[in-house]
Amino acid sequence: MIQVVREDITRLHVDAIVNAANSRLSGGGGVDGAIHRAAGPRLAAACGQLGGCPTGQAVITGGFDLPARWVIHTVGPVWTGGQAGEADLLASCYCTSCQLALAHDVRTIAFPAISTGVYGYPKAEAARIALNCLRDYQPKFERIVICCFSDADRDLYESLLD
Ligand code: APR
Repeated sequence: MIQVVREDITRLHVDAIVNAANSRLSGGGGVDGAIHRAAGPRLAAACGQLGGCPTGQAVITGGFDLPARWVIHTVGPVWTGGQAGEADLLASCYCTSCQLALAHDVRTIAFPAISTGVYGYPKAEAARIALNCLRDYQPKFERIVICCFSDADRDLYESLLD
């Protein structure tokens, strides 16, 4: 099932949460900052061992002090107007994160709205891309949570899910 919630993703009791990271895996603001704060310093140490992550790809670490067992770090595209392959890269973030999760026997997974904050991706288009991918993977998971950080985002996803 696909569930839409308005919540701080670091509080969710799921097998894996997905982080909207940067290609250096260096931590940052937004959800990346929140996840690193909640997971504790061991997360940065684990990320430092991975040597970065290309845009559109995903890597996995432990969750450390988080309720979630795993953190899947994916790097969304920076929105530059839609002519630089942003849509395919964003879709790839959702799909490769799902594939990586399945390879680690993840049954419940939560996603933030990747690229729609600092990276400026238009929210409605990003939501459509996310749902296109997650609908395909839905049968392989017990639960997929879309974790929104505002009522407006939650309403947007719920309207697209109906
Ligand atoms: N829980 C869930 N969602 C959150 C949280 C949180 N605690 N904090 C922020 N968000 C939401 C934002 O409101 C936005 O909808 O996550 C979505 C993604 O926004 P960003 O975190 O800004 O991520 P993104 O747009 O992908 O930019 C990534 O920002 O933090 C840096 O290091 C990161 O360079 C990378 C860039």
